Amino acid sequence: MSDLRIAVILGTTRPGRRGEAVAQWIVERGNARDTARYELVDLADYPLPHLDEVNSAKMGQYEGEHTKTWSAVIDQYDGFVFVTPEYNASISGVLKNAIDYLYAEWTNKAAAFASYGVNGGMRAVQQLRTIASELELAGVRQSLNLSVFADWQEFTTFAPGAHNDPTLETMFGQLESWAGALQPLRAGVAA
Ligand SMILES: Cc1cc2nc3c(=O)[nH]c(=O)nc-3n(C[C@H](O)[C@H](O)[C@H](O)COP(=O)(O)O)c2cc1C
Repeated sequence: MSDLRIAVILGTTRPGRRGEAVAQWIVERGNARDTARYELVDLADYPLPHLDEVNSAKMGQYEGEHTKTWSAVIDQYDGFVFVTPEYNASISGVLKNAIDYLYAEWTNKAAAFASYGVNGGMRAVQQLRTIASELELAGVRQSLNLSVFADWQEFTTFAPGAHNDPTLETMFGQLESWAGALQPLRAGVAA
């Protein structure tokens, strides 16, 4: 196995959230590949107030202990799978807030997008791609777009259709390739 570490960021905190089963499944499937280490990062474990830092994240001068903790978590990873619902044609507020807290911790890394919603959550993915580009975070082409109609039984029990399997593998492959390719670039920037 490579030394790549990928965070699967669970982007909702709502009681009864569908995202939890999705994120756990992605972690399990990712680790089954044995090509990178996939770890769950649940935003519920890192409660962040509405952005309360005085300085822009680009300056990297954090004052809040919650920001320093969040920075140390994200800094460890080579890449990310953002697990996002579609909320009002975009991503969740809690995910956007968590992203906005940091800058360098995201840059020159790779990202993949796993969305879900009534229509697969593609509008959330499109918004996330724009956000990622602003952070110099390289978003891979393949996204996973789960439907609450097709991939949940009775809208409650997560039961992803088999048609998602090749999509997921393609997404993992693209993510790991780019996450690995960007490691030396980050080493150069740090030097
Ligand atoms: C505030 C809110 C807005 C939503 N807006 C959309 C939407 O624009 N498009 C969509 O497909 N689903 C929408 N949904 C449905 C969610 O995608 C679906 O309920 C999903 O399970 C929410 O993620 P969560 O369960 O992890 O919180 C919305 C749900 C909420 C709570």
